[in-house]
Amino acid sequence: MLVTGGDGYIGSQCVLALLESDYRVTVLDNRGTGHEEIPASITQDTYRGDYLGSVEGDLLDPKDIDAVMDDCQFEAVVHFAALSQVAESMQYPGIYYRNNVVGTLNLLDAMREHDIDKIVFSSTAATYGEPEYTPIDERHPQHPINPYGRSKLMVERIMDDYGAAYGLRSVRLRYFNVAGADSGCRVGEWHEPETHLIPNILKSTFEGGKRFQLFGDDYGTRDGTCVRDYVNVEDLADAHVLALEYLLNGGKTDCFNLGTGEGSTVREVFAMCEKVTGKEIPLDVRPRRPGDPATLVADGAKARKVLGWTPKRTLEDSIRTAYGWEMKRRSMRD
Ligand SMILES: NC(=O)c1ccc[n+]([C@@H]2O[C@H](COP(=O)([O-])OP(=O)(O)OC[C@H]3O[C@@H](n4cnc5c(N)ncnc54)[C@H](O)[C@@H]3O)[C@@H](O)[C@H]2O)c1
Repeated sequence: MLVTGGDGYIGSQCVLALLESDYRVTVLDNRGTGHEEIPASITQDTYRGDYLGSVEGDLLDPKDIDAVMDDCQFEAVVHFAALSQVAESMQYPGIYYRNNVVGTLNLLDAMREHDIDKIVFSSTAATYGEPEYTPIDERHPQHPINPYGRSKLMVERIMDDYGAAYGLRSVRLRYFNVAGADSGCRVGEWHEPETHLIPNILKSTFEGGKRFQLFGDDYGTRDGTCVRDYVNVEDLADAHVLALEYLLNGGKTDCFNLGTGEGSTVREVFAMCEKVTGKEIPLDVRPRRPGDPATLVADGAKARKVLGWTPKRTLEDSIRTAYGWEMKRRSMRD
């Protein structure tokens, strides 16, 4: 299998899941937001599959893709490589469309030339935009509200067209809020800067003194704060292995939400971080921010039914593993 973006947070967890399921895996990553320490960490471990390593290369350079595909005949591609910060995408839309859309076009064209017709793609709940109802199922209208979400929706549409024209079969996995780290502490979340809530809360317990701002505690939710669906990264990696098997067994192009279906409020996340770290995390309540929906929760019934995927880990599991990883990550750069 070829895994693009396999030196990043979710991609590296998926590489481990594929290796544990006995696949041969090659990674292609430009190390833009991924980390060179990750392949070394994966190489040190034991698993059933065959890790052929991580090749440094860019999807924006077709020669880099050809070089990897000329070396090995891949059955399928698992495609994580993308830029994924919403605020940055609003500031630099051209960089996002080029990297996420043009990069994927280069990949799909190289796949055609090398007779690879199956791809699992990292899409996102951001393709839905403002929720019209919740929980959100796959039939929910897709009206993304930022360039990042739009770049992912464009790729979904391009994959439809490549399916009709050339027989490409694709599974688009629309993730909700991904959280946690590898329970063996081999890989984990490592974004610079970090924009996600849980790693930022955990980081603050090391740096000390940082007060968090909670935007809005007057929503119509169980404690007044926003509800989000935190899906554990190991569960997510398992879903990719199932999606790949689905395609290898002849499954047709489809899309699946990946979420637990059970949201947690912002206050619940803070309380769980305090429980796991044993530290008090100071919080200031501020007025609501525009554009923050009260509740974003996945209806994950389709992934359960068609892929046989059942998320098993809890929010506490995610926060515990993320905390363990944060400690290890700090020691890796010391
Ligand atoms: N983290 C989340 O909560 C979340 C939610 C929804 C969707 N996603 C999607 O999941 C995927 C992985 O996200 P992540 O959090 O692991 O991000 P990440 O930044 O940790 O990983 C992305 C990887 O892709 C590589 N990459 C980016 N552009 C590349 C290019 N042009 N050529 C080669 N490699 C390139 C980066 O170096 C990095 O290793 C992304 O497609 C993202 O949009 C993530």
